[in-house]
Amino acid sequence: MSVLKNQKYTMTAVCGDITRLEVDAIVNAANKTLLGGGGVDGAIHRAAGPQLLEACRKLNGCETGQAKLTRGYDLPAKYVIHTVGPVYRGRPDDAVLLADCYRNTLTLALEKKFSSIAFPAISCGVYGYPMDAAARIAVTTTADFLKQRDVLIDVIFVLFSPAALDIYEKFLQSPMGVKNYREKLC
Ligand code: APR
Repeated sequence: MSVLKNQKYTMTAVCGDITRLEVDAIVNAANKTLLGGGGVDGAIHRAAGPQLLEACRKLNGCETGQAKLTRGYDLPAKYVIHTVGPVYRGRPDDAVLLADCYRNTLTLALEKKFSSIAFPAISCGVYGYPMDAAARIAVTTTADFLKQRDVLIDVIFVLFSPAALDIYEKFLQSPMGVKNYREKLC
């Protein structure tokens, strides 16, 4: 683990199940209805219990790139920030919308004064975003966002395979002024 001096934020990549993390907020890669689905969305709803769906029903959906907050209910995480990634189409707009997911989620987290937040690899499953391109967007957008703000927050990228962790590790090690720390949990 390397800790950079004067850094108030940390960015970490781990491999594991995001529903098990005891952090202020985990991020859900949801769909526009916010009424659940498969992948990490399904896992979060299963772990959070039925109250999560009840709360999501009151949110009236979510546009791609936007982010909305609920409590975590039966999850170890206190809150869930639901965001909707772009369905990958190979268009320039894909990267803009994916970056919006990270920016809008982090904006919400700072508004709520969260000190820890965990992201899955948004859009990299059902929505088909190539992991390498998505990881670059996730890490650079998050690093740029946090560098511009004087905040104390731990950001954890939770990957669901060692191969995905390797890809994130590559970007976390690049000279972007972020702490890099790697933990193999799976
Ligand atoms: N913890 C961490 N990561 C997970 C978990 C988990 N428990 N389960 C799946 N993942 C990973 C996947 O391996 C993938 O790398 O999350 C990443 C995102 O994949 P999806 O969950 O398929 O999300 P996305 O590609 O954004 O597609 C969203 O899928 O589940 C539906 O309702 C959801 O319609 C929406 C769409």
